[in-house]
Amino acid sequence: MKHSISKAVFPIAGLGTRFLPATKSVPKEMLTILDRPIIEWAVIEASKSGIEEMIFVTSSRKNIVLEHFEKSEMLELNLKKKKKIDKIKLIESQNQLGKFSLVIQDEPKGLGHAVCCASNFFNEDQSFAVILPDDLILSKTPAIKQLIEIYKKTNGGSVIGLEKVPVNKVSNYGVIEYKKKNKNFLTVSGVVEKPKKSEAPSNLSIVGRYILNSKIFQSLKLGKKGFGNEIQLTDSLVSLMDSPGLYATEFDGKRFDCGSKLGFIEANVNFGINDNEINKNLRQIIKKL
Ligand code: G1P
Repeated sequence: MKHSISKAVFPIAGLGTRFLPATKSVPKEMLTILDRPIIEWAVIEASKSGIEEMIFVTSSRKNIVLEHFEKSEMLELNLKKKKKIDKIKLIESQNQLGKFSLVIQDEPKGLGHAVCCASNFFNEDQSFAVILPDDLILSKTPAIKQLIEIYKKTNGGSVIGLEKVPVNKVSNYGVIEYKKKNKNFLTVSGVVEKPKKSEAPSNLSIVGRYILNSKIFQSLKLGKKGFGNEIQLTDSLVSLMDSPGLYATEFDGKRFDCGSKLGFIEANVNFGINDNEINKNLRQIIKKL
């Protein structure tokens, strides 16, 4: 069996223009869903999936994201003095999420370029996770863990997370074509980034969860531009189709697009309803609307 998936790449250098003015000074990954910033939910998902190293591909104006995961002696001391045991536990659990690394993406050249910036972290034939924090997923089993299961089942194949979308939405996503349906995953035979509705090979869209073999960097390093004149990750996925292959799975869980206002609010409502402390009151508030 291939090695375990121990590292995850989080491309977070984007400007967050869809969320201005909130993102003028606060990185969009720091906007909160319930009581945690979006990035923390993504890191928790990775950590619960056995991933030990979190690699942030970011820009220099986002230091606050890394700071969020730093140990805060002052805060801990203060909470201890006030005997706020539950809060201490909460903060301590944050320190155990994993090791954090940083790489700077100096120019916004696309998702493929962002992932490529992390290439030095990987050996030849090493597989790793990619998590796009904007795609927030509420699920019993962490979504990336579900992909890792397929990676194991396929003896080290690369795996893409999928969601069925209405046909008129396909042009917002990467879309797959498949040749074989297995029990809970598909064998991918093609991918296309943001196709026109009439040209989409299916309505199975790519969600921001990937397990990728490091051979993808050979293709990404060519720097070929695709949709929107950007270096697209989707275009290089094709290079992973040879053995052990490229697979895709409709994971169990609900995905929210936290890069859009509606998706962000929807995520907050759903995470709130899922929270033992506030769910009853929140349901009452919603009923009254
Ligand atoms: C990116 C990917 C796209 C994928 C989407 C999922 O697009 O390029 O293939 O479907 O994430 O959220 P973006 O949303 O950055 O335009």
